[in-house]
Amino acid sequence: MWLYFYPEKIEMQSVNSDVIVVLGTGGTIAGTSGRELDNVGYRAAQIGVEQLLHALPGLAGQALEAEQVAQVDSKDMGLEVWARLAHRLEHHLARAEVAAVVVTHGTDTLEETAWFLHRVLAPAKPVVMTAAMRPATALLSDGPQNMLDAMTVARTPDARGVMAVVGGTVFAPGDLRKVHTYRLDAFAFGDAGPLAVVEEGQVRRFREWPATEPLGVGRLPDDTTLWPRVALLVSHAGVDPIVVDALLARGVQGIVVAGTGNGTIAEALGQALHRASSAGVVVWRASRCAFGRVIGDGDFPSAGPLSAVQARIELMLQLMLS
Ligand code: SIN
Repeated sequence: MWLYFYPEKIEMQSVNSDVIVVLGTGGTIAGTSGRELDNVGYRAAQIGVEQLLHALPGLAGQALEAEQVAQVDSKDMGLEVWARLAHRLEHHLARAEVAAVVVTHGTDTLEETAWFLHRVLAPAKPVVMTAAMRPATALLSDGPQNMLDAMTVARTPDARGVMAVVGGTVFAPGDLRKVHTYRLDAFAFGDAGPLAVVEEGQVRRFREWPATEPLGVGRLPDDTTLWPRVALLVSHAGVDPIVVDALLARGVQGIVVAGTGNGTIAEALGQALHRASSAGVVVWRASRCAFGRVIGDGDFPSAGPLSAVQARIELMLQLMLS
């Protein structure tokens, strides 16, 4: 961990004493390619978070601390990193001199980590996640602007809660959806609309900051192998329910089904899930549609407005803490 002030404002009296902590976890925002015209053939999670901050203009006078919590391509994000990240966030957020924490992350599982942190921490200070679609070495990398926008939100006086800032848009954690493989504006915000936008260093907010009753970092078992096993299945044409029996045999405790449309489940898969439910496995219905909530009653409880991947986290937490 390290602390620095930008050299042009080194005299202490002009320095903003409210520290922003930046936690790095990897992702394309920290990715590099040997060729500057290559926006896909790069390696994620190569550059340290300190180096990312050094490359940023416009932070004169802002006290910053950087800490590398992980260095992963977020497709490999998992329980260990989530646990470490939650603990480091809890630590920094409890420090009186810390105003906010920015978390750099990959875009691919941003919506999952954002939901996890929202439910576990629901902090009274801002935790602003950011990411990039293009590596740091790209001709037009989106990382620096996204980092600056995240800093702008982090410095907003009344800001609170976990959110994500990408492409000039501020997303509430539950509304965040990665919907495009390549475009710079790869994220959508579902039915609710954006939480806010960042325009030329100004935040224009439309809704309340995200808040909920936190589940508490202290309630997460230290041994992540004890966290409940929750699987995610997709109901699709010609689905083979054999996978449910395989999961049952391996001791899965919960299953989220990304159902068709309004969370409907193919007959054969439904029968297998009823067998699992009778054996004590908790089954939830989400939808494989990008937008909308699962409405009305069905054979299994609805995951409501959560995406299927977020519902998997929610069920894991509920099983863990019930
Ligand atoms: C990742 O999610 O770590 C790689 C892809 C990205 O950040 O866009």
